[in-house]
Amino acid sequence: MEVIDNMVGDANLVSTQSNLKEMIAFVPQIQDKLKIMEAALNQISVGKVEEGDVPESSFGYIPIDLGDFFDSLFDLEAALIADSEFKDADLAHRRVDLVEVGCGSGRNVFLATATDRFEFGKVHGFDLSAPLIEHGRQIFAKGKDLFVADCMEFDYAPYDVVYFYRPFSDEAAQQRFEDRLVDNLSPGAYVIGCGNLSFPDDRRLLAKCENGRLFKKLR
Ligand SMILES: C[S@@+](CC[C@H](N)C(=O)[O-])C[C@H]1O[C@@H](n2cnc3c(N)ncnc32)[C@H](O)[C@@H]1O
Repeated sequence: MEVIDNMVGDANLVSTQSNLKEMIAFVPQIQDKLKIMEAALNQISVGKVEEGDVPESSFGYIPIDLGDFFDSLFDLEAALIADSEFKDADLAHRRVDLVEVGCGSGRNVFLATATDRFEFGKVHGFDLSAPLIEHGRQIFAKGKDLFVADCMEFDYAPYDVVYFYRPFSDEAAQQRFEDRLVDNLSPGAYVIGCGNLSFPDDRRLLAKCENGRLFKKLR
């Protein structure tokens, strides 16, 4: 605000100053509105569903903060636009197929495909919890794009992008998952690993962002 208060004298600057102040005053309200909508969506996503038996080494369903989720998608988009391997004659980058590991009932899959804002081809999500997947199929109408699977056995090779947010609470299990995922990932594919333990030190991966979450598998 101090920077804005110092913009005195020039009539254009004074009007810009007052517009900026008005805009800044709205920011907390906008944040509150987004948080309320996020909380409502989270309640709908889970409903009254019992997750079923989750192994002790796994996390239950803890939805990622939506701001972080969208930041990851914007970072991905910027990296794909800059990556010549993903060039497209008509689009900002060629469409990519994405899979979400441990998607719960599929809230993020639903959001990523709710508009044509992002250039996705297929967007799939899977989770170990059958009741959450069944609930998600009903409320998000995503059919077979949501399915039950175990991330330690899943084949990641067909996908251009894999997204996860810590399926495992146990660090050793999380490490084994990350190692297997990177091994199985196709060369040139991207991984968004929220809460990953090993990616910055993994020589099979190239960092694509400074936040320690977005990586590309080397060829
Ligand atoms: C921390 S939550 C992340 C939720 C969601 N991915 C997000 O980003 O909002 C972890 C999810 O991983 C799932 N999960 C745990 N172990 C799994 C496994 N072995 N295979 C597939 N999903 C698993 C849990 O059921 C839970 O829904």
